[in-house]
Amino acid sequence: MGPDPLPRAGPPTVHPASADGWPEDGDDWPVVELRGVARVYGSEPPVEALRGVDLAIYTGDFLAIVGPSGSGKSTLLNILGCLDRPTRGSYLIDGVDVAGLSEAERTAVRARSIGFVFQQFHLLAHRTALENVMLAELYGGGERTGRRERALGALERVGVAHRRDFLPTRLSGGEQQRVAIARALLGSPRLLLCDEPTGNLDSANTQSLLLLFDALARQGLTLVVVTHDEEVAATAGRVVRIVDGRMTEAVG
Ligand SMILES: Nc1ncnc2c1ncn2[C@@H]1O[C@H](COP(=O)(O)OP(=O)(O)OP(=O)(O)O)[C@@H](O)[C@H]1O
Ligand SMILES: [Mg+2]
Repeated sequence: MGPDPLPRAGPPTVHPASADGWPEDGDDWPVVELRGVARVYGSEPPVEALRGVDLAIYTGDFLAIVGPSGSGKSTLLNILGCLDRPTRGSYLIDGVDVAGLSEAERTAVRARSIGFVFQQFHLLAHRTALENVMLAELYGGGERTGRRERALGALERVGVAHRRDFLPTRLSGGEQQRVAIARALLGSPRLLLCDEPTGNLDSANTQSLLLLFDALARQGLTLVVVTHDEEVAATAGRVVRIVDGRMTEAVG
């Protein structure tokens, strides 16, 4: 076994939006689109968590989803993330209706195109920052060659490469969330879905995470962030509000 490869010098890797054949900035078709989406949970009694939601999200959008508890935000995020399917209506990714895809194809779309970030950082406690990021690819089935370099590149991209060998317990909340974002970015997703990503952060860490989100959106990443945080919503380029499963977009 040779020595570990050195980290790449230079600026963080920026993945151009067009690298994998997705539309470039300025092209005006949505990355993802919901048309008349309803989601009814078949519980007793049934819950209509989403009702007739229409939403088109474009490359480089930074979209905040706000609304009261139980209004359908996570349900919407799960559908956008191909973790769940609409009961009615359609969900199109790059113009293709997800309903027409097999389970395996949906899993492949998820691995290739979508990253997830949660309020709880969900880092493995006994793995270093770098290992936590690398493990994402293990499950995503990415190519083994260069995994370490890609993970380091992702840590650089979010500004925590200097903490690569730290265990999560030795990282601040803000640093842990950046590692979780690096992990989500590892497969070069087009779409990053975040559920209350600043819920466990103080206001200084929230501010700095918002700067990172803004930079990522400028690099062509499409960001959807569920939040209760006014600061987050104020920074986002678009804000949609869900109340009782119905969505309205703030114009401004
Ligand atoms: N698996 C499920 N089975 C039945 N009902 C569900 C299920 N998941 C969610 N619900 C219901 O659907 C509605 C929307 O839930 P959802 O988790 O999307 O809300 P939310 O906006 O994310 O809330 P919060 O801000 O508290 O996270 C709620 O009334 C909830 O009780
Ligand atoms: Mg939720």
